[in-house]
Amino acid sequence: MRNNRWFGWDGAGDSLWAQSVRPILDAREMGGSQAEAAALIRRDPELSCRFQKTFGAPPADDEGVFAGIGKALAAFQETIVSRRTSFDDFRDALEKGDRPAAARYPLAAQRGLRLFVGKGNCSACHFGPAFTNGEFHDTGVPFFIPGGVDPGRHGGLKKLQANVFNLIGARNDDRSGASTVKTRQVAIEHRNFGEFKVPSLRSVAQTAPYMHNGSLATLADVVRHYSELNPDRLHSDGESLLKPLRLSAEESADLVAFLESLTERTSALQPRRPSAACRR
Ligand code: HEC
Repeated sequence: MRNNRWFGWDGAGDSLWAQSVRPILDAREMGGSQAEAAALIRRDPELSCRFQKTFGAPPADDEGVFAGIGKALAAFQETIVSRRTSFDDFRDALEKGDRPAAARYPLAAQRGLRLFVGKGNCSACHFGPAFTNGEFHDTGVPFFIPGGVDPGRHGGLKKLQANVFNLIGARNDDRSGASTVKTRQVAIEHRNFGEFKVPSLRSVAQTAPYMHNGSLATLADVVRHYSELNPDRLHSDGESLLKPLRLSAEESADLVAFLESLTERTSALQPRRPSAACRR
């Protein structure tokens, strides 16, 4: 979560805390307001105590309290990290030259990995520790939604630039200005229309349904999407990283086996230790 450069499938958030307040305000999600959220902090003794310990006394303006809420939500989410996977064990075994350990990684997943970095060209966009380049691409997922289109990155950039909580804004705690660079540099281009964020593939076996619109139910469906891709459906200009792969049934199953190996074996979150800070 904390390793993202942009947040939301449209990238309208440039920090985890700015992203974290979006669902509170969005009419389709919680439909709340800054005033309501700030009032809740001010009138709840537990919440205002916690706020005060972290940020000092709640400021008089709702926007200031609301920014604090976002930062607190982000601090919690930053503690959520995915666990080691059988792929990680394989990778480390290869690095150490430990063949017996490497051999424990299923053969189907090994063949799938070869496709992922080879013929499939998946690693052109899905690379690094989280299997994402952190940017936006068009993969031919229809962007028509009931009553209109989802402009993806094109709309996300407009929202980002208009957002008082972006990193250029006054609520950014980084006084050095270093964290504002990426937000200052982005420019809205026509090709951003229909581009969506390259998602992390960590724990991907647990995050169905897939793609920003949830249109694909299983990992096998995602692999079929890339295998049977219609290049004419790629709406952005200049996207040449994808072409129909025409995978055999075995190749498809291998690629799915590889994707499944990016998921931790147990999914239970660590139980949270009770906080002593505000105990009454
Ligand atoms: C051009 C960049 C690019 C390439 C190449 C690419 N992907 Fe993706 N991938 C994306 C983007 C962008 C999305 C999100 C699309 C959306 O939300 O509509 C995505 C989504 C996915 C998802 C769904 C994840 C989720 O949580 O919804 C999986 C799985 C996936 N890709 C696997 C692959 C595999 C396997 C390959 C190779 C066959 C591949 N990708 C090649 C950019 C790419």
